[in-house]
Amino acid sequence: MKKILVATEKPFAKVAVDGIRKIVENAGYQLVLLEKYTDKADLLKAVADVDALIIRSDKASSDVIEAGKNLKIIVRAGAGYDNIDLVAATQKGIVAMNTPGQNSNAVAELAFGMMTYIARNQFQAGTGGELRGKKIGLHAFGNVGRYVAEIAKGFGMEIFAFDPFLPKEAFEKAGIKQLESVEELYKTCQYVSLHIPANEKTKKSINFELLSKMPSGAVLVNTARAEVIDEEGLVKMFEERKDFKYVSDIEPVCKDVLKEKFAARYFATPKKMGAETEEANINAGLAAATQIVNFFEKGDKTFQVNK
Ligand code: 3PG
Repeated sequence: MKKILVATEKPFAKVAVDGIRKIVENAGYQLVLLEKYTDKADLLKAVADVDALIIRSDKASSDVIEAGKNLKIIVRAGAGYDNIDLVAATQKGIVAMNTPGQNSNAVAELAFGMMTYIARNQFQAGTGGELRGKKIGLHAFGNVGRYVAEIAKGFGMEIFAFDPFLPKEAFEKAGIKQLESVEELYKTCQYVSLHIPANEKTKKSINFELLSKMPSGAVLVNTARAEVIDEEGLVKMFEERKDFKYVSDIEPVCKDVLKEKFAARYFATPKKMGAETEEANINAGLAAATQIVNFFEKGDKTFQVNK
C-alpha cells in the first residue's frame, strides 16, 4: 500500500486534512500525518518509508530527499517551490510539483489587508490615505498578481504590471497597463506589490536603486519572499525617504531595526499567513493529493517543476 506523508510544520485546517485523507484513502493509499514538528529529525524519520510527500513551506532539502528511500513525488501545496532542492530531487528521479493558483486569492486578499492597514496609520488615530485613484504596480503578473489586479479594480486603483515572461495579450485581456521595464514600474507606481519567485536571479533584486525610483508616498507590499529584498537597501530607503512604507507577509532579518526606528511605516506578519485561510488550505491541499493520485494511477505529470 502506498504511503503519502503530509509534513506540515504549519498545519492545514482540519477540513483540508479530512479532504486530503479522503482522496488518499479512496485511492487505496495510507495517509501519514506529521504536523507542527519542530525537529527536522522527525521529518527525516517520517519520510523514510513513504512514496509521496506533501509539504507547504517545509524544506525538502537534499537530506530529506536522501532519507526518502521510496520517495517518487514531492508536491508543494502552494505556489513557490524554492523550498525544494530540485537538483537533489531530479538526481533521484523524484518528480517535484506545485499547485499553482490554488492559494492565490488568499495571498491577494492579504496584500489589500496590509495596504489598507498601512494607509490608515496601522489603525491608529490620525489622518490616513485612500487606495482609490492610486497607481499600483504588479511586479510579476502570475496567479497572485491576477487576483491583486481584480481586487485593485474594485478599489478604483490604476493598475500597471511588469512581467517579461508574458505576451502583451495577457495584460490587455486583464485590462491593465503593461510596462516595459522594472524601472518604469517602480518609477510609475506609488504602490508596488511583489509577486516574483525567489530564485538565483531575483534574490536581493529589490534594492535601493530600484526602490528610490518610487514616487512620493511609496508603499512596497511583499507577499512574495523575504529573500528577494536587499535588506541593506531597504533600510537605506527607510532612512532616506521619510515617505516610504513597507508591509510584508514575511519578517525580514532586519526586523528589529525596522521595528525600533520606523515602526510607524513598517508592518510584517509574525508568521507567513498569506495562504492561511481554510479555503486556500482546501484548494491547495486537495489539489496536492489529487495530483499525487493522478501521478501514480495515470502517470500524470502536469505541474511538474523539475523537468
Ligand atoms: C506559497 O508559495 O504558496 C505561499 O508562500 C504560501 O506558503 P505556505 O503554504 O507556507 O503558507
